Amino acid sequence: MTAKELKTLVTFLMFHLCLSLNDSIHGTPNIIIFLTESLSMKDLGFYYDNSQETPNIDSLIEEGVVFSRFYAQSSRIASLSSLLTGLLPPRTGIIKSKFLNFKEIPSLASSGGLQHAEITLAEDLKAKGYTTSFVGLWGLGIGRNAEYLPLNHGFDSWYGVASANKEPCMESYKTTSDSLYTWQSVCAFFSPLLYILPFVSFVGWYKGLGNIVTVIIVIIAFIIYSSILHDVIHFTMDFIQVKSCVLYRNSNIIEQPYTVENLTLRFTRNAVQFLESSSISSKPFLLFFSFMNLNQPEFASRLFSNSSQSTYSDALKELDWSVGRILRVLKKQDLENNTLVLFLSATGHHVHKASESCSVVENGEREASCLQGGSVNGIWEQTIRVPAVMRWKGKLKEKQIIKTPVTIMDVVPTVLELLNESTEAVYLDGKSLLPVLLNSSAEFKHKYIFHYLDVTKPAAITSGSYKVLYTGVKDSRNLQFHEPPLLFNVEVDPEETSPLPNVEHRELLANFSDALAEHMKTRKNKWHSQLDSRIIPFLFPCANFPRCFQASDENNDFSELFN
Ligand SMILES: *[C@@H]1O[C@H](CO)[C@@H](O)[C@H](O)[C@H]1NC(C)=O
Ligand SMILES: *[C@@H]1O[C@H](CO)[C@@H](O)[C@H](O)[C@H]1NC(C)=O
Ligand SMILES: *[C@@H]1O[C@H](CO)[C@@H](O)[C@H](O)[C@H]1NC(C)=O
Ligand SMILES: *[C@@H]1O[C@H](CO)[C@@H](O)[C@H](O)[C@H]1NC(C)=O
Ligand SMILES: *[C@@H]1O[C@H](CO)[C@@H](O)[C@H](O)[C@H]1NC(C)=O
Ligand SMILES: *[C@@H]1O[C@H](CO)[C@@H](O)[C@H](O)[C@H]1NC(C)=O
Ligand SMILES: *[C@@H]1O[C@H](CO)[C@@H](O)[C@H](O)[C@H]1NC(C)=O
Repeated sequence: MTAKELKTLVTFLMFHLCLSLNDSIHGTPNIIIFLTESLSMKDLGFYYDNSQETPNIDSLIEEGVVFSRFYAQSSRIASLSSLLTGLLPPRTGIIKSKFLNFKEIPSLASSGGLQHAEITLAEDLKAKGYTTSFVGLWGLGIGRNAEYLPLNHGFDSWYGVASANKEPCMESYKTTSDSLYTWQSVCAFFSPLLYILPFVSFVGWYKGLGNIVTVIIVIIAFIIYSSILHDVIHFTMDFIQVKSCVLYRNSNIIEQPYTVENLTLRFTRNAVQFLESSSISSKPFLLFFSFMNLNQPEFASRLFSNSSQSTYSDALKELDWSVGRILRVLKKQDLENNTLVLFLSATGHHVHKASESCSVVENGEREASCLQGGSVNGIWEQTIRVPAVMRWKGKLKEKQIIKTPVTIMDVVPTVLELLNESTEAVYLDGKSLLPVLLNSSAEFKHKYIFHYLDVTKPAAITSGSYKVLYTGVKDSRNLQFHEPPLLFNVEVDPEETSPLPNVEHRELLANFSDALAEHMKTRKNKWHSQLDSRIIPFLFPCANFPRCFQASDENNDFSELFN
């Protein structure tokens, strides 16, 4: 064989190798996305010493590609909106507004939500012939006639909960509210006497009414106040709170208020049923499973509670069981080689209460508690850098670790490229991950990644190993502006304890501000947040007006899930 022939052969082989790689990666795989929250890499056995027992997620990690710098957004719903649309949250308005401090859509009666102009992953996939299902916690609004719920965003079926506000329906909440009948609440109840008494006495004296008449007026005023104002207001508030626990199956409310305890079991049962029915059909499917049990306050069903040192660990155990249960169906139906599985967290783990004291002091040092998680609303690496795993047996290399910074917005463009869809025509903030998935050392760069705390402007920007922080959080309520900004090398200092001296990095900082200015030009509506949309009482979802009560007709026997 001559050198020329050899060269031709090698070129031929290489061409076909590349081609077959390209060919084989394109297609219409089934897609399962597991989304949770309040989970950091630390909580998963793989990344550090095994502190929690998560065998199923660990094996997913073993068999898949792991991202060590995967950036989510600053809140759960912001991350969910980015995951579904491939856009930065301020473009969809699913992020804290400038003035109000809400991190979730504040009421079920809010007129805000994920707008229809936004094209979701489910809509893209449905157009390609997929069957799509959303199970679990939503949170992107309800709106008029349930216009913002999953069924109107490209999902064929949905089973789950519209908003994260479940506290009033939890056992623990009920016991704390009982204990509120303490001397404080008794004082609060009688407090109006403090102003009714002097006022009526004054009027009585001025008008020359007798003492008895005055006392009667005081009593009547108090009764009117306490029954109408105090009780009615409190009753209404309690009623709204408890009735906010709404469980949907497609367009029906099937339980109001729901019982929190077994929700993860019920979500899992529903997801398993969806997988079993989809595996019979020849259509590819998308299953989006959004876990709710790590949403604070965490909860676990009786089968998992008290099995470890905290409710958090119990909930994580149940989550892991659920992931394993669903992957088992995949294996049984022989769908593993044909299914792309993603496991992601929408937010990092946050330390209970400790976040109150989380602030950067003058020299940039932070208290130890912050290093493990920081504030709920922070933009620290530990809160936005989340665990992310992608598994596609036979297609993606196992045990691969990708160190390039990527974002939660990259999922949509990645899937679009898998489907041979061009992403050039649509505007997206994300970029396809295929180049790095196929070659972990490939050039793939988000030159700059913008991180938002609220709708106005980026609070931080990441580029390569550097991160510049313009806005931090002082405590759980207040932001802290850094002028000049703090600069970190998050590759060597992921805990962000030692800011780099600005004087030595003038050019880098100048590049960051240029990038910020360029980025702001792409922002059209700089103020609009869906979280401060009007609240319209008649939008409140109600199973049957005016009781707004619906008992569940589902069975409580979950034994088939454990077979
Ligand atoms: C593989 O796909 C990429 C992007 O989709 C494309 O740029 C490249 O040319 C393809 N390679 C071959 C050999 O077809
Ligand atoms: C995607 O493109 C490749 C190469 O052009 C082709 O072989 C494959 O069938 C396409 N896949 C889909 C799902 O259209
Ligand atoms: C879990 O433990 C707590 C406190 O020890 C106890 O009150 C509760 O009943 C236990 N729950 C279950 C389901 O065993
Ligand atoms: C899945 O892919 C692996 C590796 O490519 C192969 O060994 C296995 O037989 C495949 N399984 C099925 C059910 O096709
Ligand atoms: C992977 O990417 C690196 C960096 O761009 C490149 O040098 C290398 O040749 C690529 N490997 C393959 C198999 O394409
Ligand atoms: C700043 O940007 C310029 C132009 O893009 C580039 O040449 C330079 O290397 C950048 N400086 C740093 C420190 O990144
Ligand atoms: C939850 O499931 C368990 C086990 O199947 C059952 O015993 C219990 O009654 C259920 N609880 C609720 C509140 O439905």
